[in-house]
Amino acid sequence: MRVQFKMLIALLAVTTIGVFLTASYSGWIELKMPSSCRCEKCFSEEDVFLNQHLNRSIEPFLSATTKLTEDEYNWWRHLQRNRHNFNYFKATLDKLFKIISPTPVLEKSKTEGCRTCAVVGNSVNLKGSRYGPLIDFQDIVIRINQGPTKGFEEDVGSRTTHRVMYPESGSVLDNSTHLVMFIFKIRDLEWLLGSFLTGTSGKPVNPRANKDLVMVLNPAFMKYVHQKWLGKKGKYPSTGFMTLISALHICDEVSVFGYGADDDGNWSHYFETLKSKNFKTGPHPGKHEYALIHELAQNKTIRLYKGW
Ligand SMILES: *[C@@H]1O[C@H](CO)[C@@H](O)[C@H](O)[C@H]1NC(C)=O
Ligand SMILES: *[C@@H]1O[C@H](CO)[C@@H](O)[C@H](O)[C@H]1NC(C)=O
Ligand SMILES: *[C@@H]1O[C@H](CO)[C@@H](O)[C@H](O)[C@H]1NC(C)=O
Ligand SMILES: *[C@@H]1O[C@H](CO)[C@@H](O)[C@H](O)[C@H]1NC(C)=O
Repeated sequence: MRVQFKMLIALLAVTTIGVFLTASYSGWIELKMPSSCRCEKCFSEEDVFLNQHLNRSIEPFLSATTKLTEDEYNWWRHLQRNRHNFNYFKATLDKLFKIISPTPVLEKSKTEGCRTCAVVGNSVNLKGSRYGPLIDFQDIVIRINQGPTKGFEEDVGSRTTHRVMYPESGSVLDNSTHLVMFIFKIRDLEWLLGSFLTGTSGKPVNPRANKDLVMVLNPAFMKYVHQKWLGKKGKYPSTGFMTLISALHICDEVSVFGYGADDDGNWSHYFETLKSKNFKTGPHPGKHEYALIHELAQNKTIRLYKGW
């Protein structure tokens, strides 16, 4: 039991399950308050915890007009070793927004007034789950890092509208998938920019990444998740956790798959064979994050699919 729990935690931390989401800020601003949400089940106005923690005025993704404060920037800067100042960061962003869409764009939902999202982590608990059709049925399907679909369709589905990644994650994208870039350091931003500039040594994200579908995590969002949702536990939130919270910001209904360990407490990926049960949560407060996700599910704020 204890081992199992540790695995869960590790999974959370290690797989960097998190991911994120994108929203068009236009799409985002028009997001419904619970009273105008047309889903079968909407976020409830009586959900005290959610109301205390969710602040939809914090944009999960940057746009050309996002007003990041120097304070927010400095919080983010302290996660890394770089010395670049706020002006350098802003100048790099300006260059990037000349290439990518100045505002993140979200797809229309099948049902007007109800945008449903699947947040798909990489846990081995997806194996044999047959969640594929259910995942594909959601308007937005967000996957994290390299989590493949080919060969795993029955269990994980085949659609990927958004893929959360950072330079080291080596994910493969097709031309219709939003690249959701999680930046943890200024080098990540430089890398992204370099990958879109011809004639530089920047390695392409992937030759087919569609520059019109790029979204970049807002450092202020990271700070908000760390402070507001995690009570400053850990150094910064995991990718998986931030991805889930970003879904709460851009979706009316959030279903979560592939988070946590399997029944045996194995903390591995569905696309790999387990090498070791020993995981470390590193800088992320994995245990706390997973407990919170569980509670959100128990309170029916999200739907959590844990496999069989
Ligand atoms: C939500 O975030 C905005 C921007 O940071 C802030 O001004 C506002 O006070 C926050 N609202 C709540 C209820 O915390
Ligand atoms: C990807 O999509 C963009 C815009 O939709 C298009 O301009 C580009 O040619 C496409 N690239 C490939 C390799 O299909
Ligand atoms: C999980 O761990 C158990 C015990 O170590 C092992 O027998 C089982 O094959 C593992 N399952 C997977 C899917 O790796
Ligand atoms: C779940 O509901 C309980 C009882 O209303 C509440 O005290 C708690 O804060 C909620 N937790 C979450 C994560 O929603």
